[in-house]
Amino acid sequence: MLYYRPNIPMATVPITIHPYAFLGKEFLKYEDAKISVMTHAFMYGTAVFEGIRAYYNKEQDKLFVLHLEEHLARLLQSCKILRLQPYYTVEEMSKIVIELLQKNKPKSDAYIRPSWFKACERIGPSVIGDADEDSFVVTSIDLGDYLDTSKGVSVEVSSWRRISDNAIPPRAKINGSYVNTALSKANAQLSGYDEAIYLTEAGYVAEGSAMNLYIIRDGKLITSRVADNILEGITRSFIAKLAADELGLEFESRAIYRSELYVADEAFFCGTGAQIVPIGSIDHYQLGDSKAGPITAKLQALYNNIVRGKEAKYSNCLVEV
Ligand SMILES: Cc1ncc(COP(=O)(O)O)c(C=O)c1O
Repeated sequence: MLYYRPNIPMATVPITIHPYAFLGKEFLKYEDAKISVMTHAFMYGTAVFEGIRAYYNKEQDKLFVLHLEEHLARLLQSCKILRLQPYYTVEEMSKIVIELLQKNKPKSDAYIRPSWFKACERIGPSVIGDADEDSFVVTSIDLGDYLDTSKGVSVEVSSWRRISDNAIPPRAKINGSYVNTALSKANAQLSGYDEAIYLTEAGYVAEGSAMNLYIIRDGKLITSRVADNILEGITRSFIAKLAADELGLEFESRAIYRSELYVADEAFFCGTGAQIVPIGSIDHYQLGDSKAGPITAKLQALYNNIVRGKEAKYSNCLVEV
């Protein structure tokens, strides 16, 4: 086969899959949670998902799920856009996620992936069909950092453009749309970078391959507009609130030009999976030194305490397992 496979060591994220999963309407051993190779979602990408994190507090021997309801509400919104017909409410899905974690008993940080998918075996990509064609699956794994959060990562502005609302709506977490992520992330890695930033077709900054983005200029936090084809990130909104309430910083959501990335005082990615990741350089333009800038570092420290249940004021973001 003729394709370029250079000898560059690629950073892969180590995971441990938990022993139980939920599929259809029941808990199963992970190895028994199987679907057919003719599944519509496998053939056409017709599924929606969420990535949720649970944090293990070692001192208290407790596990906390972060922003559970918000993620499950967004999952139903994604179902609506893809015309899937979910048979569980947010409350019912929350109970399933918690019960799954109680069965799996992780003793480290975990990542939970609920997904609604077109489970029928059929040729033709249309999602229109009976309600019993759609199914629900939840898996969980042990997961540490997705990207290194301890230093500034290196980033390229991708030559791949962000999918647009009139093609595959980025507002929905549709499995098939993550081919856009796969292309930009792979290209960045092959070029020796840790991550990618997409521009929109109009040339504005959208987001990272699977995370939102903030830049800091003159003490102000700036993030891309929703109109620039971003996922409306739960962490993105949370950071805006933390920055205003805890650090008294101004916040702006607006069109960002590419060259503003290069002159930013600080920049960081944020997302449930990514957490808060300082950006060290973009297209070889250095931002500060190799570690998190002062505002990024403050937000990181605050975030890390909140997610492990160490800030009573923010305990309403967490569900204890
Ligand atoms: C494309 C994309 N953007 C942004 C994010 C961050 O969103 P959130 O903070 O809701 O996890 C994610 C992660 O889910 C993502 O996949």
